[in-house]
Amino acid sequence: MKVLIVGGGGREDALAWKISQSKGVTKVFVAPGNAGTALRAENVPIKADDISALLAFAREKKVDLTVVGPEGPLSAGIVDEFAKAGLRVFGPSKAAAEIEGSKAFSKELMKKYGIPTAEYEVFEDRAAAEAYVREKGAPLVVKADGLAAGKGVIVAETIEEALDGLDRIMGKKEFGAAGNRVVVEECLKGEEASFMAFTDGKTVVPMASAQDHKRVFDGDKGPNTGGMGAYSPAPVVTVRLERQVMDEVMIPTVRAMEKEGRLFKGVLYAGLMIHDGRAKVLEFNGRFGDPETQPVLARLDTDLVAILEAVIDGTLAKADVRWKPESAVCVVIAAGGYPGAYEKGKEIAGLEQAGTREGVIVFHAGTSLRNGKVVTDGGRVLGVTGLGSVIAAAIDRVYAAARDISFEGAQYRKDIGARALETGS
Ligand code: AMP
Ligand code: GLY
Repeated sequence: MKVLIVGGGGREDALAWKISQSKGVTKVFVAPGNAGTALRAENVPIKADDISALLAFAREKKVDLTVVGPEGPLSAGIVDEFAKAGLRVFGPSKAAAEIEGSKAFSKELMKKYGIPTAEYEVFEDRAAAEAYVREKGAPLVVKADGLAAGKGVIVAETIEEALDGLDRIMGKKEFGAAGNRVVVEECLKGEEASFMAFTDGKTVVPMASAQDHKRVFDGDKGPNTGGMGAYSPAPVVTVRLERQVMDEVMIPTVRAMEKEGRLFKGVLYAGLMIHDGRAKVLEFNGRFGDPETQPVLARLDTDLVAILEAVIDGTLAKADVRWKPESAVCVVIAAGGYPGAYEKGKEIAGLEQAGTREGVIVFHAGTSLRNGKVVTDGGRVLGVTGLGSVIAAAIDRVYAAARDISFEGAQYRKDIGARALETGS
């Protein structure tokens, strides 16, 4: 069986790693991939959002299954295009992907179906949004409606910050058309966790829980990033909380999408805020999270392709989904300056030494090959992932491996997993 993975980050390298271990998989392509996927699979020089070129490639190579990583092509309708051409593809349709593509849509869905989330209003008019901000008072959260690579959210501690956020989103259009509408919502307090589930539109099967680290510096300081590391399981997601999230969030959302005529198939990802043992939804994504997928797939004990196929076929109820009892930790090594401006093309040393350590997998994100050498080619460069019998053991392993690796300007957080140690796992 031939599999095509669309995307080129750490998530896609983790998918390539796991999918290439599946029974019956003879060939894995990754478009466009990175220097890591080039080792595990064959890279194809097609961008993730070039749907017509991807479709032509899948047809020509007789690809049996396409797995889509990033939100861009999903929101642009890649799944609809492939399905129309009779090709098997994993991910939500364009209509279903709107749960991530429009925050106004997902908030309205949650309100209509009673799914716990922050109170909010949606505005197209700047003056009306400003009046609402002044009426509610700070703290408030101001969000661009559309896709903004995780950057269109401003958590405002003061009214001035909230108004400045409105100006950046609606006035200066820092996030382009994503800012045509704005969501202004109540600021929630608590601890965040990522809850991902496979769903075929009817059955919902949770993945192992995970926690991301969005801020760039230790102690959750500095600006938000795409994610600087993650671990699984997240002790904050207790058995009781998982039950609540399944009963009050995941299952009702999948049912709601079906009722709305937008059957959701793929990975439904809920970003949660947990306070006093209860979860509210911060956002939905319609895809695997990055970096969460790296430690989560490291713990998947069963065949991933069989699960993906069961999602497509509507037979997820019969799929075998089991997780290793070990803990996994992923530390993202980023380019100096990220999430601001950074340089590319820095040669990376120590990859082999890190990758041969017991219980360690080095996933690549922003890397490429230049004259046979691995060089940096993005903001998030590597996701060093380690497994251990307990989280402390995984932390030791992953940081030993991270210290093996060096390139000019490399930066990573030193406290990934520390919160899980405090909570106790
Ligand atoms: P989102 O892309 O909607 O998940 O927002 C990105 C980040 O902004 C989240 O991971 C939270 O840290 C923060 N955030 C979003 N919405 C809220 C909210 N209502 N209250 C507090 N923090 C929030
Ligand atoms: N790590 C957050 C995301 O994938 O959206």
